[in-house]
Amino acid sequence: MEAIRWKDSALYLLDQTRLPAEERWLRYTDHQEVANAIKTMVVRGAPAIGIAAAYATVLAAQENACKANFPAAMSRAKETLAASRPTAVNLFWALDRMEKLWLAVGPDLPRLETEARAIHREDVQMNETMGKAGAELVPQGARILAHCNAGALATGGYGTALGVIRAAHALGKVSMVYADETRPLLQGARLTAYELVKDQIPVTLICDDMAGCLMAQGKIDMVVVGCDRMAANGDFANKIGTYSLAVLAKHHGIPFYTALPSSTIDLSIPDGSHIPVEQRGGEEVTGFAGVPTGPAGVQTWNPAFDVTPHELLTAVITERGVLRPPFDRELAGRKAD
Ligand code: MRU
Repeated sequence: MEAIRWKDSALYLLDQTRLPAEERWLRYTDHQEVANAIKTMVVRGAPAIGIAAAYATVLAAQENACKANFPAAMSRAKETLAASRPTAVNLFWALDRMEKLWLAVGPDLPRLETEARAIHREDVQMNETMGKAGAELVPQGARILAHCNAGALATGGYGTALGVIRAAHALGKVSMVYADETRPLLQGARLTAYELVKDQIPVTLICDDMAGCLMAQGKIDMVVVGCDRMAANGDFANKIGTYSLAVLAKHHGIPFYTALPSSTIDLSIPDGSHIPVEQRGGEEVTGFAGVPTGPAGVQTWNPAFDVTPHELLTAVITERGVLRPPFDRELAGRKAD
């Protein structure tokens, strides 16, 4: 399964706002429209956002190739893309990597396209490698809790947390995946359950408020989630609700893992208090798909992510292996180039 394609100088995105009802691909030739697609979550998930931004940089180069002030136009395009969503560091990592190249080679479109394709391909490779490493942590007959969507749709392909689940399933280790629905935008219900059903991996969809009850009944053996940004000490941002699950897992003595590529590590910040957490519109809380679920005029609070302190993490699964505490020492030097 894939959600991002590059073909004939255009970017194609599987519209994730429509899933699972409709599989609709949208075509992009303008970087500003890609910035908007990231903002409105046509494409979402930390690595996928980075990949989309890399291809959008190629689009910006196509748009500005003939301009005398190419670097200035590209800087503006970078700013537009960087302003789309603040939390996932992969976006900034990919934009910086592309910037290094366009500063060096100018509007060399084939070279820029090759670099964006490399970012895309490397992400899939990292996911497959971390999937294998993470699968070793999965006990036989595991019942695994998943939150949000950290699958093929959220990445270049295969997935981070769902990559671990896919690899463990291939080894015959997974008895059930419990997918949190993940309000307000239902990435767990609409995307994770959709991916797992398609791949014929056993999945049970639950409402967010059911996870604690499942754990208390001894029905969860491990939790594995994705990550949008990990600070130097191992604190990490992921979809809102992740922190609550980590606290619940600690209380019930259940191993709690996050899976991430090196492009999600931000060694420039010492801890999670420095992670910018995106606040989204109240309409996501007061309704879904245009149907009101709360009274008109009610106040809302809608942070898209929360920060889980590293003390609640059992281990971090990366393409460079499984990291155990102390995370600050283990993470040092692990940032992607
Ligand atoms: O708001 P979203 O849907 O972009 O949030 C996605 C998540 O929180 C994922 O868990 C994270 O990006 C990791 S994706 C491999």
